[in-house]
Amino acid sequence: MESLKGKSVLITGATGGIGAATARLLAASGARVFITGRNEERLKDLLQELQLPADRYFAADLSSAKEVEKLKDHFHTVFPVIDILVNAAGVGIIKPMDTLTSEEFMTTLQANLIAPFLLMKAFLPAMKEVKKGLIINIPGVLGKVPMAGAAAYSASKYGLTGMMQSIREELKRTDIRITNLFLGGVDSAFWDHIDLRVQREKMIRAEEAAKSVWFLCQQPLSGVVSEMVLQPFNHQAI
Ligand SMILES: NC(=O)c1ccc[n+]([C@@H]2O[C@H](COP(=O)([O-])OP(=O)(O)OC[C@H]3O[C@@H](n4cnc5c(N)ncnc54)[C@H](OP(=O)(O)O)[C@@H]3O)[C@@H](O)[C@H]2O)c1
Repeated sequence: MESLKGKSVLITGATGGIGAATARLLAASGARVFITGRNEERLKDLLQELQLPADRYFAADLSSAKEVEKLKDHFHTVFPVIDILVNAAGVGIIKPMDTLTSEEFMTTLQANLIAPFLLMKAFLPAMKEVKKGLIINIPGVLGKVPMAGAAAYSASKYGLTGMMQSIREELKRTDIRITNLFLGGVDSAFWDHIDLRVQREKMIRAEEAAKSVWFLCQQPLSGVVSEMVLQPFNHQAI
């Protein structure tokens, strides 16, 4: 396993269930964690909990190119190099076509597909300069297998999967690795506004999902985990 000690890691969605749990695990393993999300209060609380320096966070809406640029500038004033990017931001709008609005479709694409694209545009050049780095995405199983009522979400996550697989081909001559983590249902705030009959107590716990990210962050340099699938053992919806 590659050591996490001293690695500079940007975690998006750090105010959410999986992102926050990942930040805790990576910081405990000695990584130099930098967190982002939109909710500044939650970022500050996590910063305090992890006893991180005051400059290790930046609040940004990642669907805005301008805000991603500002995030990049702030990140690079703290760390010249980015070792790992964990793309854990995203929204869960899971509705059938009858009730899904165009606005919701766009919001889903903005958060789940456009934001990771903007992050790649912002942070990939620094990785390319040193020809190494690791990017971890969380498309979820709905980025691999469709489900009724998930047109917007699956569009965004299939898009994310395809975009990252294509970028991976571009990076073949470098040591920049891309891992897609296909998670099934994880009990987090993600499900708070989804109108589906699911059994949250049977979902993967956010802390357990974060352990898979933590593991992937330490994958050996001689290989790459191109994808990992982790699903609840017995959960009716996904
Ligand atoms: N939970 C699941 O069942 C599940 C399954 C498979 C894949 N996933 C994927 O895993 C990732 C994390 O999900 P989660 O369960 O941790 O969800 P969550 O608890 O709802 O957290 C979502 C995070 O994304 C951030 N976010 C959303 N839109 C954003 C935007 N426009 N700009 C910046 N940040 C934004 C939120 O930040 P703020 O709250 O600060 O705005 C929050 O930190 C998502 O990509 C999700 O699609 C989740």
